[in-house]
Amino acid sequence: MRTKMVAGNWKMNKTLQEGVALATELKKAVKNPKCEVVIGTPFIHLATVAELLKGSPIKVAAENCADKASGAYTGEVSAAMVASTGAEYCILGHSERRAYYHEDYDILREKVLLALENGLKPIFCIGEVKEEREAGRQNEVVRAQLEGSVFNLSQEEWKNITLAYEPVWAIGTGLTATPQQAQEMHAYIRSLIAEKYGKEAAENTTILYGGSCNAKNAAELFANPDVDGGLIGGASLKAPDFCTIIAAR
Ligand code: PGA
Repeated sequence: MRTKMVAGNWKMNKTLQEGVALATELKKAVKNPKCEVVIGTPFIHLATVAELLKGSPIKVAAENCADKASGAYTGEVSAAMVASTGAEYCILGHSERRAYYHEDYDILREKVLLALENGLKPIFCIGEVKEEREAGRQNEVVRAQLEGSVFNLSQEEWKNITLAYEPVWAIGTGLTATPQQAQEMHAYIRSLIAEKYGKEAAENTTILYGGSCNAKNAAELFANPDVDGGLIGGASLKAPDFCTIIAAR
């Protein structure tokens, strides 16, 4: 049975104090979740929030890491540094990183390898933009993203990968993919994994849906056989909403 998961992605929101308050609220509310619960926070929150969540089932993720191991890269944060905070996961390949910070397949391949080398579990995001969906190119886009940055991994390394299908047109727009669109794409992604790593690996891979997933639509999305949970942006910033989504999984 593959891991079911609800992961938050706070993005560039919350001061340290606000983040600590939200994590404290979540720690109180999330006691015996039926799924893996992860919160992705800005770098500056990681150490404090990881410490605060000790003894809680909630795990911590970074939202990014550097594509270099260490050295003269002013302002960057390495995978080793992230791991040293107590974070267990690292969101990589988010469409905002791809679009605004020009993270291409090669850069992301390096980041994924460094995350794995340092014991972090990548939550690797893929998904097409609106024009690509309108042109019916979503499958080829997602395939290229996988081939470009993660299908180089060994069978052993693959076991630590979680995928998040996030159609870019659905992120922060209120335009959620329909449960059918999500299921179709998740099943397609699983078929690609089966081709590359075999059926068992495909069955064991957690594939999250992300893009305007919220307290109202989560249950309907998660009811699909290939949708193993969600990567939640906006709705992860309010504890009651995030808890409703966790309960829906
Ligand atoms: P959203 O973001 O839930 O605010 O649409 C999802 C994401 O970008 O991970």
